Amino acid sequence: GFFRRHWTHLVGAALGAGLICFGYEVYSMRHPPAQLPQDPSKPNLVVLGSGWAATALLTDLDTERYNVIVISPRNYFLFTPLLPSCTVGTLELRSIMQPMRYITRFKSREVLFVEGDATDIDPVKKTVTVTDNSEIKGEVSTQTFSYDHLVVATGADNATFGIKGVYENACFLKEAWDARKIRTKLMDCIETAAFPGQTDAEIDRLLHMVVVGGGPTGVEYAAELHDFLKDDLAAWYPELASRVRITLIEALPHVLPMFSKTLIDYTEQTFAENKVAIRNRTMVKEVRQKEIVVQCADKSIEHIPYGLLVWATGNMPRPINRQLIAKIGPSAQNQRRGIVVDECLRVKGAENIWALGDASATSFPPTAQVASRQGRYLASLFNRAAEAQAAADAHHEAQLLSDTERRSRAVVDLQTATDIPPFTHTNLGSLAYIGADRAIADLPSPASLFTSEKTPGWSFGGVATFWFWRSAYLSNLFALRNRVLVSVDWMRNSIFGRDIGRE
Ligand code: FAD
Ligand code: NAI
Repeated sequence: GFFRRHWTHLVGAALGAGLICFGYEVYSMRHPPAQLPQDPSKPNLVVLGSGWAATALLTDLDTERYNVIVISPRNYFLFTPLLPSCTVGTLELRSIMQPMRYITRFKSREVLFVEGDATDIDPVKKTVTVTDNSEIKGEVSTQTFSYDHLVVATGADNATFGIKGVYENACFLKEAWDARKIRTKLMDCIETAAFPGQTDAEIDRLLHMVVVGGGPTGVEYAAELHDFLKDDLAAWYPELASRVRITLIEALPHVLPMFSKTLIDYTEQTFAENKVAIRNRTMVKEVRQKEIVVQCADKSIEHIPYGLLVWATGNMPRPINRQLIAKIGPSAQNQRRGIVVDECLRVKGAENIWALGDASATSFPPTAQVASRQGRYLASLFNRAAEAQAAADAHHEAQLLSDTERRSRAVVDLQTATDIPPFTHTNLGSLAYIGADRAIADLPSPASLFTSEKTPGWSFGGVATFWFWRSAYLSNLFALRNRVLVSVDWMRNSIFGRDIGRE
């Protein structure tokens, strides 16, 4: 009775409350509060990177207790799970970027952000050298910072396995500029194919889009490419669209080895329906300017002409990580995958250096899920250590120590502490977009999330999973601003289609 009579008022009140919350969040975002200045008596915490691990650490860290310096060649966080959507214009790049200062400016104490590459770590002197590698150089473009704690969250580089010609001829898909380059090159291939007088063989080559690597990056990119072809190119380039071919090359017997067998079959079947060719058991041996050389399952060698090549064959350590590994030496650093850490993410063979996310070599998969959990774990360690230090400082005895003695004591405490709980991780499942409004999801059973019981998880695929995939990523986006931008992009594309202009 009551609800029936007053439903219009109730809906109005809910909308009003929603609008007020939205307005408040926007106002708060535009008006950052005053911050405490950095304090020389506090330990210096230097964080390398602005990706998943570093950003999660920064979000949870109590910066009142540390002088935090964040160093990264890019001044924003990038929401990588939606990066493949930016290669064809389903989303615009800025919709999935979150400038670091939108985070650092809201911390209680000032955080120094330095845009540059960490080019040298000296674990003995405890310093990091940073070089500004951007196009515009000021009078100073190299600077050295000393640290009490160093967090290496520099992620990973693209693996090429030393295959000839990859760097020169292929596009990668890891960073914002990679997605921009792919989008530009894709439209260039299409417009070049449309150039009057182009030969048939050349048109077929230019319109052959090859993806190497059947992991989730390669699969999601091929899926986006298919959607672009079907939803947009078919209308604007009717004479060319039917000639565009997409081929996904994978060295193993199947794509997506980390997903369940049912979902692998479902993906391969969906790709076949969408006319995306999967070539399993095919290994790329060399990349040339206009063709790739592959070894097929029967060991025969084939030359495949291509217009655009996207290389997504996984990770290898970045130069700065390799340099640190070499400096520490093989007795402690003996993995080719990344920096070896103990169960608390302390770098083995070094003092007060921590490594996490894709930069580290652990038993966990190199995913955003793991990197952000590790960032939050490390933040909780630093927060607890700082609290303990503050309590000790309050004690009469601590007041007899000088500032330097107190600082070094706090640092030593965290380095040698044996009562730190190790990092643990429960996999929350994997999601991937496979094209034509379909996604796949491998989710753990609720029992295995809350208990140590190992029960089989759930596998879903299809259109409903696609909506689940979209809502999961939308709610995972860091800020309200990005949620609005991504929603607007999705809406704009469903009304007007994707933009086919070449930047
Ligand atoms: P990153 O996020 O890569 O951050 C590394 C940071 O270090 C960057 O800011 C970089 O600029 C900076 N840096 C680099 N060199 C230096 C230097 N010399 N000095 C200082 N800073 C430096 N995972 C999932 O769980 N789910 C997904 O759906 C998913 N989708 C993905 C889609 C794509 C296209 C890609 C490429 C990856 C995806 N991943 C996904 C994996 C996920 O993005 C990574 O595991 C995650 O980014 C790792 O976080 P990180 O902080 O270790 O590294
Ligand atoms: P990956 O390591 O998962 O897959 C790379 C694939 O390339 C492998 O299947 C490998 O067999 C193949 N390959 C290697 N060399 C080859 C060659 N010469 N010729 C042909 N094939 C070759 O790499 P990816 O996809 O870049 O992912 C990296 C990490 O990011 C993974 O941990 C992944 O789980 C995570 N990720 C997760 C996503 C999701 O959950 N939706 C999306 C994208 C990445």
